[in-house]
Amino acid sequence: MAKSKEIKTIGVLTSGGDAPGMNAAIRAVVRKALANGKKVIGIQKGYSGLINEEMMEMTSKDVSETIQKGGTILRTARCEEFKTEEGQKLGADICRKHGIDGIVVIGGDGSYRGAQALSKQGINTIGVPGTIDLDIACTDYTIGFDTAVNTAMQAIDKIRDTSSSHERCSIIEVMGRNAGYIALWCGIANGAEDILLPEKYNYHEQDIIDHIIESRKKGKTHHLIINAEGIGHSTSMARRIEAATGMETRATILGYMQRGGSPTCRDRYYASMMGAIAADLLCEGKSNRVVAYKNGEFVDYDIDEALAMTKEIDEYKYQVAQIL
Ligand code: ADP
Ligand code: F6P
Repeated sequence: MAKSKEIKTIGVLTSGGDAPGMNAAIRAVVRKALANGKKVIGIQKGYSGLINEEMMEMTSKDVSETIQKGGTILRTARCEEFKTEEGQKLGADICRKHGIDGIVVIGGDGSYRGAQALSKQGINTIGVPGTIDLDIACTDYTIGFDTAVNTAMQAIDKIRDTSSSHERCSIIEVMGRNAGYIALWCGIANGAEDILLPEKYNYHEQDIIDHIIESRKKGKTHHLIINAEGIGHSTSMARRIEAATGMETRATILGYMQRGGSPTCRDRYYASMMGAIAADLLCEGKSNRVVAYKNGEFVDYDIDEALAMTKEIDEYKYQVAQIL
């Protein structure tokens, strides 16, 4: 339920996996809140820093030279203690002790559950979608996804060069936790021969083997398979595929490089807008809401409703990816 109370001090934290563009969002929260006449406190290391009181007042200068930087200047953490009611009560008490009456939480849907809990404990809270995985149902955009897919796409282009030269099959594993969005986008952008998504994969490895054999007969010099982290097992899959097809097969797990690097223009722009909107929502006395980008517009939703939403990989996009 939206509450209305005057906000004097706004806290901001980043939580869960870091994502390029989080700094642009922090910067926007700080500068918009200051422009609205509020005091701003930066909380370090997510909910862990909140319950350990690792925080400091932030000025406009504290966010200078940060918009182009990857990672998060506030650092981030995964905090098991905050999943307990005691941890959440402690977090809210610490907010009250430091005069923090509203918090912007930048993170994924796990972090939104923490935000929802804080809000229930009486601290006005607004979520901003920060994750490379694009797996938050209420929004078409999450901070960091654009940089991550561009980083992965460039790395996959490089692997393709060597793969073609050696006439090899390459299985490239991309991040995304249980979601296949990074795999789908890279699969399309890199022109992969096979794209394995947790949401769609039927675990019939023989289909991939048949596809490789058929492509070889048609004269293809390489075979790129983009495998999502949610399926995993790329190394053992490579061994089995090589044994079955006779085509040399290598697995590359792209890993954490996908989370780093200077954010793209798109990530900086959307993160800046979303951070500013989050600060404004708190200043309007709103709580338990998340900022989203839906159907071409910035909007906000009640966190409870946002967390109840689901989204699927679009069947048409998946079909197009397979055809191309
Ligand atoms: P993300 O926010 O990227 O989805 P996680 O799922 O790891 O990442 O969540 C980040 C943090 O959010 C967790 O370490 C924990 O501190 C907090 N969190 C996650 N789930 C809950 C929950 N159900 N209740 C309270 N806090 C949670
Ligand atoms: O949520 C972002 C993400 O990079 C996922 O793609 C991945 O599954 C996870 O975080 C890895 O988390 P950790 O940093 O805890 O290894």
